[in-house]
Amino acid sequence: MQDIEFFTTQDGSIGLYDKKLDEIFHSKFGAKKEAFEKFVEPSLIYQKKPIKILDICYGIGYNTKCALENFSNIQEIDCLEINEELVKKSFEFEYSEKINEIIKRNILKTEFINFYIDDARKTIKQLNKKYDVVFHDGFSPHKQAVLWSEDFIFQITKLMHKDSIYCTYNHSKPVLSALIKAGLTIGKTIKNERIIATVASFNSDLIKNKFTNIELQELKTKSAITYKDKDLTLSHDEILKNRENEIKNSSLITLSQFKKQLSKQFQE
Ligand SMILES: C[S@@+](CC[C@H](N)C(=O)[O-])C[C@H]1O[C@@H](n2cnc3c(N)ncnc32)[C@H](O)[C@@H]1O
Repeated sequence: MQDIEFFTTQDGSIGLYDKKLDEIFHSKFGAKKEAFEKFVEPSLIYQKKPIKILDICYGIGYNTKCALENFSNIQEIDCLEINEELVKKSFEFEYSEKINEIIKRNILKTEFINFYIDDARKTIKQLNKKYDVVFHDGFSPHKQAVLWSEDFIFQITKLMHKDSIYCTYNHSKPVLSALIKAGLTIGKTIKNERIIATVASFNSDLIKNKFTNIELQELKTKSAITYKDKDLTLSHDEILKNRENEIKNSSLITLSQFKKQLSKQFQE
């Protein structure tokens, strides 16, 4: 935890800040609130049958804990995290004693929560289950593009069945574009008339707030060019550099050109 600082988020829960990356782990508007609104609430369609959850980037486990608090039908949770120290300490943060006790027991000995401590890019290739719900909570692509490449996202979708729900806070164009490329229908998680997160599924009937045609067309511009990491081995800098080159050489129009074209059409 050497490079990690704590701060109090607006809902009173503790958030983490990575000094080295200069990146927060949790929303300053509320770490617990974020786990519920962006990850668990959109996946609450699963109320009956026993469900399996994949929690990518477990951190200190807010998303898993929030799921434990809100679902009564969890069969299994697989948690992917690179930093073992965070996992070991995760039962100390927030949530009720009951939830933290479950986490503590499972850290000591798996009952139904499995912790995979490694680069999620390696672990994802070793998993072969189908999950009902996927939480994808990597640091932002500007800081860690390795977990947002179209290739990593494709690996995630291999672990989803037709009705699985994928949830992420990320609604950046390259990530939305990668989700579509992988065959998913994407939807907006909206709070107070603002997009705060993304849900996606192979089953378009499960997606409520679909993207409009114009929003989908925006994903055909240069700004939506995806991050690429074919063998899941490139560094963050390599991924960004390759993307910059792809943008430079692409014949796609830019987002601002698209917007200009659109406003012209409306004026005519
Ligand atoms: C935005 S935070 C996730 C917060 C977390 N969901 C929580 O509730 O605390 C991103 C997490 O990704 C982890 N991480 C970074 N690179 C990773 C990688 N290659 N594989 C797995 N986990 C990684 C970080 O250690 C950090 O805990």
